Amino acid sequence: MINFIEISNLKKKFKLSNGQELLIFDELKFNIINNSVMSIVGPSGCGKSTLLNILGLLDSDFDGQYSIDGMNVNNMKNNQLSNIRNKKIGFIHQFFHLIPELTVLENVILPGLIQNNKVSAITKDANELLDTFSILDKKNMKPNKLSGGEQQRVASARALINKPNIILADEMTGNLDEETSDVLMNFFLKFIKNNNMSLLYVTHNHKYANMADCKYELKNKKLILM
Ligand SMILES: Nc1ncnc2c1ncn2[C@@H]1O[C@H](COP(=O)(O)OP(=O)(O)OP(=O)(O)O)[C@@H](O)[C@H]1O
Ligand SMILES: [Mg+2]
Repeated sequence: MINFIEISNLKKKFKLSNGQELLIFDELKFNIINNSVMSIVGPSGCGKSTLLNILGLLDSDFDGQYSIDGMNVNNMKNNQLSNIRNKKIGFIHQFFHLIPELTVLENVILPGLIQNNKVSAITKDANELLDTFSILDKKNMKPNKLSGGEQQRVASARALINKPNIILADEMTGNLDEETSDVLMNFFLKFIKNNNMSLLYVTHNHKYANMADCKYELKNKKLILM
């Protein structure tokens, strides 16, 4: 079995304004095999977003070993990290992080343009994804005119556009009603399997957490397989 991601001895702390330190992870170990679907649950503030930021190469301020696709990321420069992020990782942020100056469609196609993919092909894929997520009619609007749930669906389409090896999703159904959430979750699970990708998602919803192949709980500064 090949590990796409290997993390060991992970220690992460934040410096607080009063000079004290807040330890979030201690000796955390986590492997992600290829073509797997994993969920993470845990109470608010336990470090789920912090963990996804580290896995997504958005935060390199940690102690411990991290390798992705056989490459050690510990000593990588910023441009190498962004290249791996763009090619291999799709990220759905808890608070979306869409680019306000770009339209919905432009936000979705941007990761494909960075990869130098053909504009006509990416645009076709982007339109299909937006249609699947029932947001195609808003494709020429700017994100700030959209509701939270609509922005969340745009962020989901953007994460899928390059068919990365892994999607890291931080509460991707957090702002959606049950019916729309079900559509999105089922589409994701099918898309991930059909394209031999992996999915790691954080959720507070136990029904969705149980849809993964493996379910983890972030507890006592470690990830525990449930
Ligand atoms: N930049 C920072 N500086 C200091 N403390 C931080 C920083 N970022 C996060 N924290 C703290 O780290 C802890 C974990 O935060 P994180 O956002 O990872 O939690 P979470 O599990 O994602 O919570 P939620 O379910 O509410 O999204 C929290 O106590 C938070 O206050
Ligand atoms: Mg969070």
